Amino acid sequence: MHIAGSPSVTDADTALVDIPDGALAVTADGRIDYCGPYGELPAQPGDTVVDHGEAFLLPGFVDTHVHFPQTYELNAYGGGQLLEWLNNCIFPAESRLADPAFARTIARDFTRARIAAGTTAAMVFGSAFPDAQDELFAVTQRAGLRIVSGRGIQTQGPESAAPLLTSEADAIALTTAEIDRWHAADTGDPDTARLLTAIVPRFTLSVTTETLANLGDLYAEVRDRGVYVHTHLNENNRPGTGEIDLVKQLFEVESYLDTYDGKFLPGSAVGGESLLGRRTVLAHCVHCTDAELARMAQTGTSIAHCPTSQLFLGSGTMPWKRTVDAGVTIALGSDCGGGDEWLIAKVAGDAYKVHISEPGEASVAMHPAQMLFTGTLAGARALDAESRFGNFDVGKEADFLVIEPHRWPPLERMLHNGVRDDDPERARDQTLFALLMGMREPAIARVYVQGIELDPDAI
Ligand code: GUN
Ligand code: ZN
Repeated sequence: MHIAGSPSVTDADTALVDIPDGALAVTADGRIDYCGPYGELPAQPGDTVVDHGEAFLLPGFVDTHVHFPQTYELNAYGGGQLLEWLNNCIFPAESRLADPAFARTIARDFTRARIAAGTTAAMVFGSAFPDAQDELFAVTQRAGLRIVSGRGIQTQGPESAAPLLTSEADAIALTTAEIDRWHAADTGDPDTARLLTAIVPRFTLSVTTETLANLGDLYAEVRDRGVYVHTHLNENNRPGTGEIDLVKQLFEVESYLDTYDGKFLPGSAVGGESLLGRRTVLAHCVHCTDAELARMAQTGTSIAHCPTSQLFLGSGTMPWKRTVDAGVTIALGSDCGGGDEWLIAKVAGDAYKVHISEPGEASVAMHPAQMLFTGTLAGARALDAESRFGNFDVGKEADFLVIEPHRWPPLERMLHNGVRDDDPERARDQTLFALLMGMREPAIARVYVQGIELDPDAI
C-alpha cells in the first residue's frame, strides 16, 4: 500500500494504492522499477526474487521531528508541562552527551530505535555537542538511513541548561563547521545525499536577538546549498508562564513566528534575514494564528505535527481542519522523548484520536490514507525530498518496510478476524486503518533504504 503521485492531504484517499498480490521491483541502483500486480511483473532472467508471503509492503516512515539526545527520556517524569519538563528532565539529560563514550552509545541506540521503527528518513533535532553530532552522522551513515540534523543551538537559558549554552560566536562557528563537515558528506551532492544538515535553534527562548540575526545571515549564505532549518513553534500556551506568552513578553513581538521570520525586534520590527522556506520544518504549531499559518504556507515552511508529544506534555491539539485549510504541509513527528513512541504508525494513530476528539464542527475522523500520507509522502515533502522517496512511484528511491503481521499476534488477529465491509474500497480502508493502528515494532520484519536491507546488528 502507498500514496501514489503527489496529492494534497485532502486527496490522499483517492491516491491510495492497494495491490493485494503485489510486486515491487527494484533496480540494482536502488530505484523502483515496477509496482503493481505480481502477475504482471516484467521479470528478467537472473532477477533475485524475495517472496514476502502475506506481508504488507509500505513506504518507509518519515519522522520529521525527533530528538536524538532524548533517546533515554521517553516517559521522563517532569512534574509539569513543557518548560518544567525541559528544566527538570531534558536539559540535564542532554548535558550527558558531553561525555564522548555516552554520546557513542546513545547515537547507536537512537539509530537502532529508528531501524526498529522503520523510520527510514528523519529530521533529527541534534545535540549541542559537536562530538555527539559526529557520532550520530557516522552511525547513521553506517546504518544506511537518511538523516537531516543539526546541533541544537542555545545561547541563553536557565541554570539547568548551562552545559548546553555557547557564546554567540561559538553558536555560529560550530554550526558552520557542522554544515561544512556533514552536509552531503556521503555523496558530495545534496540531491543524492542521505546525510544532510540543518540550522537548529532550540526555540526562541533558547536564543537571543543576536543569535537570530547571526543565524539569518548564516542561512542566507547556505540556503542554496540545500541546508535546512528546524525548530519548535507555538507548542505550550499556558497563560502567563508558558512558552508562547514568554516569547511575546521577552521579545515584545506580535507573533511567535515573527521571531523566525527576521522580525524578532520589539514590535516585530525587522532585525535580520528570515529562516523560513521550503526546507524549514517547525515542530508542533498547535496554537498558530491564521496569519502565522498563512505565512508558513506562503514560504513553503512545513509543520512537524506531534500529537503523541502534545498528549504527553499537555500541549493541546493542533486544529486539524483549520491547519489543513491554510495549505501548509503537515507531516508527522514522534518528538521523542516529548513523545513516548518511536513508531510513526502509532503517532498517526494518536493523530486520529486527538482530531476525532476536537470539539464540535472541528472533529474529524482522519481517513486512513491521510494517516499513511502524513507518515510517509508528506514527510518526504516536508524534507523537500518528495521527488526522491515517500511512495512507490516508478523511479523513486526504494525505501520500504516489510510488515509481517504474524510477528505481532494482536495485529494478525485484527487483520484476520476484524469486521470488513462488503464494499471492497471500504474494506481496504479498514484494513489499512487496522494495520496502522495495530502494528508495533515487532511486526516490522525488514527495513530497506534505496533497495538495501538495513541490519541493526551491523552498526
Ligand atoms: N521546545 C524546546 N525544546 C524542546 C524539546 O526538547 N522538546 C519539545 N517537545 N519542545 C521543545
Ligand atoms: Zn521537540
